[in-house]
Amino acid sequence: MEQYTAENEPSYRHASIDIFLDPSVHGRGLGRDAVRVLAKHLIWDLGHHRIVIDPAADNAAAIRCYAAVGFQPVGVMRRYERDADGAGWHDGLLMDLLAEELALQTGEASYQAPGFLGGLFLGEVASAWHYPAVDVVEADGSESTD
Ligand SMILES: CC(C)(COP(=O)(O)OP(=O)(O)OC[C@H]1O[C@@H](n2cnc3c(N)ncnc32)[C@H](O)[C@@H]1OP(=O)(O)O)[C@@H](O)C(=O)NCCC(=O)NCCS
Repeated sequence: MEQYTAENEPSYRHASIDIFLDPSVHGRGLGRDAVRVLAKHLIWDLGHHRIVIDPAADNAAAIRCYAAVGFQPVGVMRRYERDADGAGWHDGLLMDLLAEELALQTGEASYQAPGFLGGLFLGEVASAWHYPAVDVVEADGSESTD
């Protein structure tokens, strides 16, 4: 399961990703592929300039997975998330990815951030971009296959 939520207040516009894979398929690169595909959708198709993700601070596999996509650690959010047993709280690591960093990761070195050349360039890149089919749960709960 992979989903995103979007903050659409113009001054703080960005999107946040959550992902859960069945343990039987962990460690095969599926997580980084799924996160990369959704990040492309959010940046190229929906025009976000910044994506965030917030694994538990001790979730080494998730942090390594997101770092492989290009996410960078921003800082530790103390007692951010409720423990699974509900008894207490644990720290989360805020990580973010900027549009131009994803472009570097994927070889689109000529990419310019939104606002520099406007939506025209973004639209041209989006229409030329090909990536694998993926089921996406949109922010309003609807599902689509890109
Ligand atoms: C986080 C999650 C999506 C990652 O998906 P995945 O398909 O297993 O990730 P990938 O295979 O792309 O990458 C995992 C990396 O972590 C590494 N890794 C695995 N266990 C590790 C551990 N205990 N310590 C350090 N690194 C670890 C793997 O070797 C791999 O790195 P490598 O390819 O460079 O060797 C998946 O583990 C998951 O769904 N976990 C449960 C839910 C969860 O924690 N979600 C995160 C919410 S933000």
